[in-house]
Amino acid sequence: MSPFLLTRTLPEDATEAALRADVLKGLTHTPKTLPPKWFYDAHGSELFEQITELPEYYPTRAEREILVARSGEIAAATGARTLVELGSGSSEKTRYLLDALTGLHTYVPVDVSESALTQAGHALIAQRPELSVHALIADFTGGLSLPGTPGPRLVAFLGGTIGNLLPVERAAFLSSVRSLLSPGDALLLGTDLVKDENVLVRAYDDAAGVTAAFNKNVLTVVNRELGADFDPGAFDHVALWDAENEWIEMRLRSRTEQTVKVPALDLAVDFAADEELHTEISAKFRKEGVRDELAAVGLELAHWWTDGEGRFALSLSVVR
Ligand code: SAH
Ligand code: AVI
Repeated sequence: MSPFLLTRTLPEDATEAALRADVLKGLTHTPKTLPPKWFYDAHGSELFEQITELPEYYPTRAEREILVARSGEIAAATGARTLVELGSGSSEKTRYLLDALTGLHTYVPVDVSESALTQAGHALIAQRPELSVHALIADFTGGLSLPGTPGPRLVAFLGGTIGNLLPVERAAFLSSVRSLLSPGDALLLGTDLVKDENVLVRAYDDAAGVTAAFNKNVLTVVNRELGADFDPGAFDHVALWDAENEWIEMRLRSRTEQTVKVPALDLAVDFAADEELHTEISAKFRKEGVRDELAAVGLELAHWWTDGEGRFALSLSVVR
């Protein structure tokens, strides 16, 4: 059996401290906000996997189509011996890259979700006894340090997760990713594309209510970790298209005037009726924007591949 290493780059109490800081800042801010990374406890990661199979949620299928068609070209262009994947989740689509990268030595999945990493890691080592898997429980926005595995390195950031960062966070993130890359290394970036508003809104407000449950799961996380008394049933799921910023926003709208207590922070939070708690943005991109954001950190857009319907794109940049 191949080696599976799981490294926690932050102690558990640091994760709790980060949650406390984010909740204190976000719930005392106007408008109230909570960062999306706290969706992903074990239940949230499971709900996300269900989202990827919804008829309305096209990004996973579109990106898979591109990976099926292009993994051979990606392998030929990069010759990667280490594949680092940020926000790897179930690593389900990654298998097309793993199949194509014939000289691969180590796969480094990076995620805040320990349950996702453990499940994905165990499945991978059973299927690929030759592969070494070194999983990192880490925040990809927090200045990563990677294990010293052989190059060239391919850093993959799939799923369109980059769209969950605000533009200013995105710029800082891309610059920190760039600093991990040496000549010959590459970045593979998945971005969801601007399209018809109805298609976009439906993808984030599905008929079965799975995305609503995913959105409300952040309240359950805060209840469990900080002893808060959010009633998820007292909030409505909201998904709207912001045409100016070209992003979907997910919010939780308070049905009534209510006060929520967060004992671990000694905090009481007042919600007005219809007040909205902002939980996620999911930015949608255009080719020129992706090219410019990569260029801003010294990366050249070498390849741009879309699915047949032009819904989603994969970009590849190889460092000279
Ligand atoms: N790449 C997979 C999963 C996307 S879901 C796919 O394309 O289907 C987003 C993933 O990013 C989740 O597994 C979540 O736990 C992880 N994630 C979100 N914010 C993160 C952060 N700040 N640092 C590390 N992982 C994060
Ligand atoms: C992980 N990320 C790319 C998803 C998205 O589409 O923005 C998260 C998600 N939120 C609601 N549905 C899916």
